[in-house]
Amino acid sequence: MPVHYDDKFARFTLETANTCYVMQILFDKYPVHLYYGKKDCHGGISYQNPYKSFSPYFDEHGLSYSPDIGMAEYSYFGSGDFRITPLRIKNKNGDSVTHFTYDGYRIFDGRMNLPRLPYSEADSDTQTLELSLLDSVSGCSLKLFYTVFPNEDVISRYALVENESGAPVTVEKIMSLMLDLPTSDFDMISLYGAHNAERSFQRVPLFHGVQSVMSRRGASSHQYNPFTALCAKNATERDGDVYGFNFVYSGNFLSETEVDQTGFTRVSLGLGSENFNWLLEDGDSFITPEAVMTYSKNGLGGMSRNFHRFVRAHILPPEPFEKRPVVLNTWEACYFDIDEKEMLRFAKSAADTGIDMLVMDDGWFGARNNDKAGLGDWYVNKNKFRDGLKSFVDRVKAYGIKFGIWIEPEMVNPDSDLYRAHPEWCIRCTDRNSTLSRNQLVLDMSNRDVVEYLKKSFSDSFDGISIDYFKWDMNRHMSEVGSPALPPERQGETAYRYMLGVYDLYRWFTKHFPGAMIENCSGGGGRYDLGMMKYSTQIWTSDNTWPKKRMKIQYSSTLAYPTCTMSCHVSNPKNICKNPDELKYRWHVALNGPLGYEMHLPNADDLIKATVKAQVEAYRSYEHLILRGDFYRIFSPFDSNYYAYYFTDAQHTEFLLSFEQSYGESAARVYLKIPEADENARYFDTVSGDIFDGRTLVNGIEVKTRETDPYSVMWHFVKTK
Ligand code: DGJ
Repeated sequence: MPVHYDDKFARFTLETANTCYVMQILFDKYPVHLYYGKKDCHGGISYQNPYKSFSPYFDEHGLSYSPDIGMAEYSYFGSGDFRITPLRIKNKNGDSVTHFTYDGYRIFDGRMNLPRLPYSEADSDTQTLELSLLDSVSGCSLKLFYTVFPNEDVISRYALVENESGAPVTVEKIMSLMLDLPTSDFDMISLYGAHNAERSFQRVPLFHGVQSVMSRRGASSHQYNPFTALCAKNATERDGDVYGFNFVYSGNFLSETEVDQTGFTRVSLGLGSENFNWLLEDGDSFITPEAVMTYSKNGLGGMSRNFHRFVRAHILPPEPFEKRPVVLNTWEACYFDIDEKEMLRFAKSAADTGIDMLVMDDGWFGARNNDKAGLGDWYVNKNKFRDGLKSFVDRVKAYGIKFGIWIEPEMVNPDSDLYRAHPEWCIRCTDRNSTLSRNQLVLDMSNRDVVEYLKKSFSDSFDGISIDYFKWDMNRHMSEVGSPALPPERQGETAYRYMLGVYDLYRWFTKHFPGAMIENCSGGGGRYDLGMMKYSTQIWTSDNTWPKKRMKIQYSSTLAYPTCTMSCHVSNPKNICKNPDELKYRWHVALNGPLGYEMHLPNADDLIKATVKAQVEAYRSYEHLILRGDFYRIFSPFDSNYYAYYFTDAQHTEFLLSFEQSYGESAARVYLKIPEADENARYFDTVSGDIFDGRTLVNGIEVKTRETDPYSVMWHFVKTK
């Protein structure tokens, strides 16, 4: 079983297929951390706490234990641990100090459910350790959960605090995960960015002090992704120790890493404290969202594949259709300028080219002729769709394709019927004006009346209409955060309650429109996170569809997220690209995830239409690898002007190998190596029709970079014997 308790040494061991995590209860009181890493390497490890001047200690244990030194499982503000601490509770005495000590444990199959939150699903191998702790002065109890997913080498962490003090307390900070590591010989990887440039790759050495990434925007954001990794300085794609961390949540977060005075590293991940506090009445409890961590000795690639397998098996919703639909999205080709006649032309051109679904983007509802009006009014615009939505969708369906529609449920334009009726339904601070962004305000999803109204509104508009897909967008971040529906002492709960309301609405959509899939979007990939993945089959990776930029965004997204989540469109909005070779380049770059098109297909010439048709057909023979295969990166577009990777199946009988150059350079030789290929086998390349020796794949396929661009090449190797 993955969780063991050794009574003799008061030690808990959590085991996965390739990793091991060990902790101990010291002096029957303090849960200390001993080890996390490669399996079978922790023999002989014992707790070390060499005394340091200026570090507080408990008199009863002399100098042998200080909360400020060594590795702990969790730590408390004001308790003598001067490093970053994950928990701060303002108790009934007015101070924020707590001292929790061990009060027992429970090991159980499966996991704790997290009410109203997204969380990873347990399977029959999942086990959970629950550590109980008590602080008699604050009157609070604390439970730390460790849920072990042995097959994917993932351990998830969450914490629950319960107030039994007889008076209210305020939870000022409660992080989901804390991990101490006995070295700081690491680089830290994080993904920063901006709208149109999400998830840029950054790898920097750890230094003394605190390094953090966070979001204060009410969304996980384009600017920092909740994923981070610590890797050995010599770690590569294939070798070296790598620890990965992520958060199953889509709102504000804080990921902190501190190198302490002894050169140890502490990682802490959770809601943070800047945009969060929670008034906990006597008898109530608060449970955090879930954070997940993995370790791999097989470099960045090993860490990524652990997360990919984990997300596919435990986070993503079931596939809604037999085949993931190839979509034709109208946004880049039409923006708001859509009507029934034009959309039916799109539907026909989609059907003619073998595309599975028309996605009608923004512009179909209310007074939505531009981004200044209409958000919140989720009824069809009768000037554009004279006979209503149902009649239009039926006509789309008559072409034998699926239909998807764009929505942005969490937002409202001041110029809308909804806002005129309910100005009090927005996120705002009392007596203060709210700033606009994209001419819109954020609806107060912390208010249940708002969420219930939205359910009714979408039900009124969509019930009885055969909608297969929702593109759920979110196009601004939160400022002047407050809820008119909450009392002053609970204003600090607004952003968190907002996310709970959003998740309620997501869950309602999945139940009310069963069989429809959701593609999450936030101005592209502004909510590319594990919380959204619980409800969204795929995510719109970025509004930037320029292939040379896209390959960087895609490369970094694959560090933490499986490629089946990464919606990739061939973009040719105004049909400026008339050359099939250039379209081929765009398509190659898009073959990193589920395929779609952003182009004015009805107006494209026959050659381009035929090219699209051939691309969709070819994609069908690779999609099992792209959506479910193991993914190996070879070259990073952040290190060079090319990106290279391959997909393979579990038995390594097929490889889809891709090389994409982002800009021209004088010719250089590059070798694309596939160590998993069988040296003694031969491989048929379905793209060129050539046979390749397995040794060539292992030693490397030679590619010569080109001075001219665009340039890309791909191979689909199938083992022949
Ligand atoms: C932002 C999205 O990222 C785009 O794809 C598009 O849906 C627009 N919003 C529509 O307003």
